[in-house]
Amino acid sequence: MSDTIDAIGVLTGGGDAPGLNAVLRAVVKTAIGHFQWDVIGFQDGYAGLVQKQSRKLGLDDVSGILTQGGTILGTSNIANPFEWHLGEGDKRTSIDRSHEAVSYIQSLGLDAIICIGGDGTLSIAHGLSKLGVNVVGIPKTIDNDIFETDLTFGFDTAVSIATEAIDRIHTTAQSHHRVMVVEVMGRNAGWLALHAGIAGGGDIVLIPEIPYKIDAICEKVTARNRRGRHFSIVVVAEGARPEGGEPVIKRRVADSADPVRLGGIGNLVAAEIESRLALETRVTVLGHLLRGGTPTAYDRVLASRLGSKAVHLVSRREFGRMARLQGNAITSVEIEKVADRQRLVPPDHPLVRLGRETGICFGE
Ligand code: F6P
Repeated sequence: MSDTIDAIGVLTGGGDAPGLNAVLRAVVKTAIGHFQWDVIGFQDGYAGLVQKQSRKLGLDDVSGILTQGGTILGTSNIANPFEWHLGEGDKRTSIDRSHEAVSYIQSLGLDAIICIGGDGTLSIAHGLSKLGVNVVGIPKTIDNDIFETDLTFGFDTAVSIATEAIDRIHTTAQSHHRVMVVEVMGRNAGWLALHAGIAGGGDIVLIPEIPYKIDAICEKVTARNRRGRHFSIVVVAEGARPEGGEPVIKRRVADSADPVRLGGIGNLVAAEIESRLALETRVTVLGHLLRGGTPTAYDRVLASRLGSKAVHLVSRREFGRMARLQGNAITSVEIEKVADRQRLVPPDHPLVRLGRETGICFGE
């Protein structure tokens, strides 16, 4: 790799999030338009690095994608050059193909690669940087659970979609005097449920960081009924769990670094409420709706700022770093500090305190 920068690579890894295309657009426009570099996009995250699937990206490729959900490059939450999976069933095994990935980067003449993703993608990026690859990271996830950044793009969009859904569920809950349970994604973190619960006026918000007591939930619903509020909205994070219990696992994705997929806690909570209180209780699982479609204006701006920052980090040869939001400023931090960690909601977080003070029951 030369001292001057002539060409960079870019990939999107892990689950998609609204704003990925906005980042890619900012990366390509800044790299080509401002620095006159070449940009190569890898197909389907790290799969493209190992399977040698890449293409040159030009300004035309990113024209009109600012508002589009998904990622024009495709993504994978399974592909990992350090643990490349082979075979099926009993014959399933994994091998280290990271050196092939490094050779491919060298053969393309890339001076650096920009890896856009969550903790898994950034951990692999860190591994590649230890092998001598010039890497810059950009944090992405609707879960908002990445360390060392105040916010990830995709989160604001997911909160907005969840809030709109809760608003709509509110009116039908009220008409039918029902308890309505809304389950949202977020993995092991409750950020999405907490923000959407507050924004949507949820009566009960259950997050993984505060294990719930079913009695406390039922007391809250009963107290509302006594006050003449004959409906309640329960916002449940998919990772929520009862005190002394475990989260509900929906499926296991073989070959994924984090194979557990959560889901189903909403049904469990609803069944308990219905059997204890004899109140009609319905469940809506928002699932992947929260990840699709056009990003909010806020996410478009944040994604564009992070994409541009990553290119500037490359131009200054500040490798092994991740662009991030710190307060209102875009700064950077060593990827090492971010890898293999998850940022959870502290149970005494100001938003949890605000929730408690404004009458939200956290199932405590
Ligand atoms: O990390 C983003 C996320 O949507 C989580 O909220 C959720 O637990 C998981 O990904 C779902 O993954 P998949 O798309 O593999 O079902």
